[in-house]
Amino acid sequence: MNEKLSATNQHDTSSIGPIWPPDSTSFDRIRGFYNKGIITDSTELDLVLDTIQTLHTRIEGSQDEPSRISIRAVIDNSLLASTDNSLLTKFGEAVIPLDTAGPRFKKSSIIYLGANHQDRSPDPKDLEKIEQNHEEATKRPPHSAKNMIARIYGEGYSLKTVTPEMWENKDHFLQLVKLYQRFGWDSADVLQLIENPNNTITVAIYNNEIVSAGIAEMIKIDLTRPNESIGSATLRLVELTEAATQSSHQGKGLYSAVATNSMIELAKKSELGDIHGGAVDLIYGECNALNLGVLKAAKSQWRTFSPRGDLDFRGLLLQHVPILGAERSTNYNDLIPAFMGRDTMLEFVQS
Ligand SMILES: CC(C)(COP(=O)(O)OP(=O)(O)OC[C@H]1O[C@@H](n2cnc3c(N)ncnc32)[C@H](O)[C@@H]1OP(=O)(O)O)[C@@H](O)C(=O)NCCC(=O)NCCS
Repeated sequence: MNEKLSATNQHDTSSIGPIWPPDSTSFDRIRGFYNKGIITDSTELDLVLDTIQTLHTRIEGSQDEPSRISIRAVIDNSLLASTDNSLLTKFGEAVIPLDTAGPRFKKSSIIYLGANHQDRSPDPKDLEKIEQNHEEATKRPPHSAKNMIARIYGEGYSLKTVTPEMWENKDHFLQLVKLYQRFGWDSADVLQLIENPNNTITVAIYNNEIVSAGIAEMIKIDLTRPNESIGSATLRLVELTEAATQSSHQGKGLYSAVATNSMIELAKKSELGDIHGGAVDLIYGECNALNLGVLKAAKSQWRTFSPRGDLDFRGLLLQHVPILGAERSTNYNDLIPAFMGRDTMLEFVQS
């Protein structure tokens, strides 16, 4: 582990954040993605759990350290099912099973471990609302990709996969900046987002104005064991992030259509082996659990919410980032990971 964490980067617009060792990043967090291979034995799992335990002790006793730690790791399913390390129950927040990802990962899962300073705790009333939203969104049936897109064209909107030339129109850039203020981004951050070659941005346009937008970010994690092929693998992820619709246009299916368009584009890239040199393993988003709209959109698009109850994980990233929009009682939002594997995505985009 880094003895000294780097100066906090409040403007890290890439969704993946630091890899390993964990380090300071945006929104007063320490983040890490364990990349030393798929975890298959308990000694290695203990090491990761000890890392979060040590960091937790450190932030609990201080007002100057970041107030949240969030760590991800890829773990073999049989180890996950059999381990009796109580730290896993203590810090486990969510699981994403990779059974519909690429063949190398079918017997493993991504785990999210999290720990917060006591002053960064979720509000019980918000958690109640989240339960209701989860229940309602879970009932929603899958929709067809074609219908979600046709719906908004029928209402006079159009979709565009953004190319750099689009930003020659200064008004469009300013409209995107306005939409993305809700994530705490300023115009310099938005510039970083649009210049990142790993981002596919889709916007919905009405009367030549951007009224909804979403980003799909391609991410590659090399899980590498030096001198050892067992447990080494490259994980290719697409994170659907920065979902935003102008308030006066919400509830009309715009974000559903925007994210569907992004998935169609990403599926084409995946088929060509252009997701960091291969096919995508997993598509996921970390959804604001207080926003029923984003949960419904995720569910319509055949995404699955992180399962609950396994090892007492609650399927929620507690007080992870702030998102303006749906009312909340604390400074940050609790997020539900919603995901689909490669095979499901390819079926969805044909639907
Ligand atoms: C989340 C957000 C992007 C959704 O945008 P949107 O264009 O309204 O989304 P959609 O219309 O595609 O919503 C999907 C479904 O949820 C419904 N819906 C949208 N907002 C809703 C709300 N507040 N309550 C209940 N249902 C809602 C829509 O009507 C639609 O259902 P339908 O197909 O039966 O009509 C938008 O609310 C927003 O910008 N929120 C603030 C930022 C935010 O929280 N982003 C999410 C970060 S994870």
